[in-house]
Amino acid sequence: NANATQKDFLHISDFNKLTILNILDRAKEVKALIKSGDRTYLPFKGKTMAMIFAKPSMRTRVSFESGFYLLGGHAIYLGPNDIQMGKREETRDIARVLSRYNDIIMARVFAHQDILDLAKYATVPVINGLTDYNHPCQIMADALTIIEHVGQLEGIKVVYIGDGNNIVHSWLLLASVIPFHFVCACPKGFEPDEETAKRAQQAGVSKIEITNDPKEAVRGADVVYSDVWASMGQKEEAAQRRQVFQGFQVNEEIMKLAGRNAYVMHCLPAERGVEVTDGVIEAPNSIVFPQAENRMHAQNAIMLHVMGL
Ligand code: CP
Ligand code: NVA
Repeated sequence: NANATQKDFLHISDFNKLTILNILDRAKEVKALIKSGDRTYLPFKGKTMAMIFAKPSMRTRVSFESGFYLLGGHAIYLGPNDIQMGKREETRDIARVLSRYNDIIMARVFAHQDILDLAKYATVPVINGLTDYNHPCQIMADALTIIEHVGQLEGIKVVYIGDGNNIVHSWLLLASVIPFHFVCACPKGFEPDEETAKRAQQAGVSKIEITNDPKEAVRGADVVYSDVWASMGQKEEAAQRRQVFQGFQVNEEIMKLAGRNAYVMHCLPAERGVEVTDGVIEAPNSIVFPQAENRMHAQNAIMLHVMGL
């Protein structure tokens, strides 16, 4: 089993279906324990985690830090000005030094190569807290949320509307392991990475569609998913993207086409009135806050898994 030797959590598709489902089951279990108020389960006791952030964060920082603490550990926040990966010193030096102080490293970076380098040189597990390429912890939390609300992930239809970005890549990589119907509706020129899409299609596990027609895409959706049109690192393109992405807003009209049973999801932070309307986020079928909460529970289970606990 290749998964037994998987030190890091960098891409969902590095793991097989059984392992992913086991991590999600573990997340449910530990979530129930934490929510019951039980504070006697302390698997991270005596352990420390270094958290490197080259980009801003609210959910990722707080969910990792609180989650690690709730299970007995201590997390250290290293912000954009602290480490300055590749600028103040080389990634391979950072990886080896941090491995000598910490039991685990979590990092949010720009270039995907940075997380690959960190993992290569670190002797402790490295967890991907978002790169320009993907965001696996987010999509694990999303999968947990869907299982809780829809009842299952297998066989459902998830329709993502917006930019073919890091979130989409993680959806595609999940779809190459777990069978469901994934549709990405994006403007022409903003499709996800071709190789990643092809790889997910060739895995033959899920039905994958990339389209430029959100109205057609959304029919029969169980989940309609939105994310910002300009990701971190693209904020100077925001104004221009607002023009190009007209018609790709998740709004009342789109949700009407999706049907009464469709849930709304958004990884947050959201720009209300831009990629998603205020009304849609506040609607009863919006599960964005349970989704945000599940970041912590999914990540706790991911950390337990890679640490062999
Ligand atoms: N969804 C998410 O990763 O949020 P932050 O950028 O606030 O961490
Ligand atoms: N696509 C967004 C996700 C934020 C959680 C970004 O990269 O900024």
